[in-house]
Amino acid sequence: MQKVIAIDGPSASGKGTVAARVAAKLGWDYLDSGAIYRATALHVANQHIDFSNEDEIAQLAEHLPLRFQAGKILLADEDVSSTIRNEEVGMNASRIAAYAKVRAALLQRLRSFLTEKGLVADGRDIGSLIFPQAKLKIFLTASAQVRAERRAKQLNIACEGEAFERILNDIIARDKADASRPVAPLRQLPDAHLLDTSDLSIEESVQHILDLYQTVA
Ligand code: DC
Repeated sequence: MQKVIAIDGPSASGKGTVAARVAAKLGWDYLDSGAIYRATALHVANQHIDFSNEDEIAQLAEHLPLRFQAGKILLADEDVSSTIRNEEVGMNASRIAAYAKVRAALLQRLRSFLTEKGLVADGRDIGSLIFPQAKLKIFLTASAQVRAERRAKQLNIACEGEAFERILNDIIARDKADASRPVAPLRQLPDAHLLDTSDLSIEESVQHILDLYQTVA
């Protein structure tokens, strides 16, 4: 068993916030694997590489000049922590994440985040492919409506009207893309605990995972 808590789930489920807090409570490291796919997608756009060119994107991913430093995400020494969060980058990340060669190129980099300290990692394939021997696997989700409302609040947008509908539709489209791709599709593993946070606060979700961890530690 690896000293890993794998938290997989759909876009905007809150898994990043929850995973980071669980890591802080345990004194473990936290890996936001989506940020690496996002940074790769941003780099592809910055380098004007065609998003249909799997081979070139995989090469770029292999040598991605990415560093995590003092809570910041640096791409070629530039702080891209907030740029990678925009929806266009998210959509492009979803597109390149469907390429087997890109996933293979990032595999070792993702695994290298595990040290003896322990690691809480979130993503889509953490429990299935990156850390299949994780001590605890969680499938963290919430309804599309609730996830869209959370995203809208983050962006200071009202939870109704055209802008909100766009957010909701983007979330549904990305769920579909991530779940229907042939390579590493998003799905709940048989050995993962389902945690639906639609009616839970962040603190309740964190506590739930810590309680589950106590049962396997
Ligand atoms: O979790 P996120 O929204 O930051 O992820 C961005 C995209 O990256 C998402 O649409 C799917 C992809 N991704 C992936 O395929 N595998 C991961 N382990 C993490 C993210």
